[in-house]
Amino acid sequence: MSEKLIIQGGNPLQGKVKIPGAKNSALPLLASTLLTDKPVKLTNVPELKDVQTMLSMVRKLGKDITTNSNSLQITGPVTSNKAPVDLVRKMRASFLVLAPLVGRTGEAIVPLPGGCNIGTRPVDLHLEGLKKLGVKIKHEDGRIFAKTDGIIGNDVFLNYPSVGATEQLIMAAVVARGTTTIYNGAQEPEIRDLVSFLTSLGADINMNGSIIKVTGVNELGKTTYGVLPDRIAAGTYMIAGTATNGNVEVTDVDTSSLKPLSLKLKKAGITVKEVDNTIKVKRDQRPDNLEIITLPFPGFPTDLQAPITALLTLAKGKSVVKETVFDSRFGHVPELSKMGADISVTNSSTVFINGKKTLRGTEVEATDIRAGAALVIGGLAAKGETVVSGLGHLDRGYSKLVENLRTLGADVERVK
Ligand code: EPZ
Repeated sequence: MSEKLIIQGGNPLQGKVKIPGAKNSALPLLASTLLTDKPVKLTNVPELKDVQTMLSMVRKLGKDITTNSNSLQITGPVTSNKAPVDLVRKMRASFLVLAPLVGRTGEAIVPLPGGCNIGTRPVDLHLEGLKKLGVKIKHEDGRIFAKTDGIIGNDVFLNYPSVGATEQLIMAAVVARGTTTIYNGAQEPEIRDLVSFLTSLGADINMNGSIIKVTGVNELGKTTYGVLPDRIAAGTYMIAGTATNGNVEVTDVDTSSLKPLSLKLKKAGITVKEVDNTIKVKRDQRPDNLEIITLPFPGFPTDLQAPITALLTLAKGKSVVKETVFDSRFGHVPELSKMGADISVTNSSTVFINGKKTLRGTEVEATDIRAGAALVIGGLAAKGETVVSGLGHLDRGYSKLVENLRTLGADVERVK
């Protein structure tokens, strides 16, 4: 029997939330531990289903992992270069083991990632880039067969600053012979976190905006490293506080990684105060309407598109949200309409919203991690009871969500 969230809307969220490590950093970091046999200690690792999936993947490939709450000890050599199909199907990010595997063992067999409900998500940029670095790629019955006599440094231009492709190429380049320069690389904070993690292992990487220069090294060492805070989780709580007329403080965050959201909330008339590694969000008035365009970092993050769309259904006036990163990331739109939002999406990936004073609680279904977050935000702000199903999605990206929301004063419970 699937579980559901029952939310009685209308309580303003007030108080503090400690933000955990970033899912979208922990996953590539875990994949990159395959590049060294030496002991790696990772701290500030978030408790998420996706992290569990990646741990199973890395264990299956030979690593010995011991966990102690939010810390992991990972050590040992790679003993297999075949990634299990079920795990790659379950989570796209497990495709990131391709580069470390082929880089370390000269061979890798990795299934193509499963489709995701936020549009088609090819891996052509990953594969074209690896070919430029001397990896032979064969694609047979849904699996990638990669082979190399040794990764060779080269210049690689990415047609699009893909986060995954950039991570894949950095991991291949750190063990290459010679120097690789990636042009038009992604600049998300999670990329910088991967670069500093690999540097702490002894890699030679220089990241200058979208140009990432890597000089290969023969082997990598050991390290103890803390995963950077999850800017998307932090942004989600900031938006939830705003939507519920509340006063929320997120702590242990990297304020610079949240600039795009902080500036947009200020523009909507919300008080946003950054003090060291905390951000305080206080709503003094109904938010003004906004125009949002999602872009690669430092643009507005696509992962906060659904959450801020939920907020804008309650803003004053007309708002427009254009999603440019994924080709169909609107699973939350029909569900928000069910709650009474005046919202529609055109075929050019643009959402038009006429803000209303209230939403009304009803039954809604999460279709992906961030669409789920949007529906929770809608339910927290709505009048009446909202029942959210599809919690498997939320569990992939948000740890301790119900616990944190209840601490902030929300009336929410998780039932079978
Ligand atoms: C990462 O996905 C994140 N996931 C996503 O977060 C995030 O939305 C995305 O980056 C953009 O910021 C992880 O880090 C685990 P991309 P990724 O490659 O690497 C196209 C969440 O909710 N593309 O930058 O898959 C692709 O189809 C998740 O936490 C190609 O065309 O994102 C998409 O339209 C969702 N060819 C665009 O680029 C390729 O080879 C951006 O994808 C690769 C990507």
